Amino acid sequence: MSRSDCPIAVFDSGVGGLTVVKALKEHLPQETIIYFGDLLHLPYGNKSLASIQYYTRTIAAWLRRHFSPKLFVIACNSASAAAATILKKTLDIPVIEAIEPTVKAILKTGIQDIGIIGTKATIQSGVYEERLKAYQPQLRIAVLATPLLVPLIEEGWIDHPATKMIVDTYLDTPAFQNIRLLVMACTHYPLLKKVIESHFEHQKVRFLYSSFCIAQATIDFLKSQRLLSSRRHASDRFFVTDLSDHFKNLASTILKGNIHLEQIDWHLLKD
Ligand code: DGL
Repeated sequence: MSRSDCPIAVFDSGVGGLTVVKALKEHLPQETIIYFGDLLHLPYGNKSLASIQYYTRTIAAWLRRHFSPKLFVIACNSASAAAATILKKTLDIPVIEAIEPTVKAILKTGIQDIGIIGTKATIQSGVYEERLKAYQPQLRIAVLATPLLVPLIEEGWIDHPATKMIVDTYLDTPAFQNIRLLVMACTHYPLLKKVIESHFEHQKVRFLYSSFCIAQATIDFLKSQRLLSSRRHASDRFFVTDLSDHFKNLASTILKGNIHLEQIDWHLLKD
């Protein structure tokens, strides 16, 4: 099999990465996706740097061994902030991560007043401010960790009044009063698009979702490297390290159809 016909490995802690898969499948239906959701260790956003690095490296190595992917996509900002640098050095396949494509898309808007929300791991890493300021030191950037959002999403509380209350409480932060761009630096957040965007209905704010930046970077990379698959060679596969009904329902809703989830024992990943 030629390299272009190999699958794309996409990884996240939970359903967030499926928002990237959805965008990829819309644009590249001929590609085979191997998805990995590390539900056992979800949420990554509240874990230490060392733990996130360990999970990410273990999963990447397992996917590499079993599927020889042509590309490893870290569809998770928290894992990208913690482990992308190490993975790029140690993995012998190309890695697409979340931060750089999102930073480039932010800069492309030309907007100077920026708000960024993400998990604790992403926000506390300071990686977004650091990279953005390296390009444009004059940017005014307000960041906010919104750690309650991922558990609410994984619980399926997308339209729940409690979710709206929590989103509103977070976004009412005085630091966001003058923002003109809100960046969703977590791949779970497209699932809260309605409730997040409605918070700003009386304010002139644009929205940028890292999920779509990651998908676009993946498409651009495959095109530029002539690695697009000419036809579909196998079915997509979806692996999870734990399984819940919420996840099953949410995954089927995001990808619009029943998907077969394969549960894998974490200990087997290490062999
Ligand atoms: N989807 C992940 C991200 O983009 C976060 C989820 C988690 O905290 O596990 O950061």
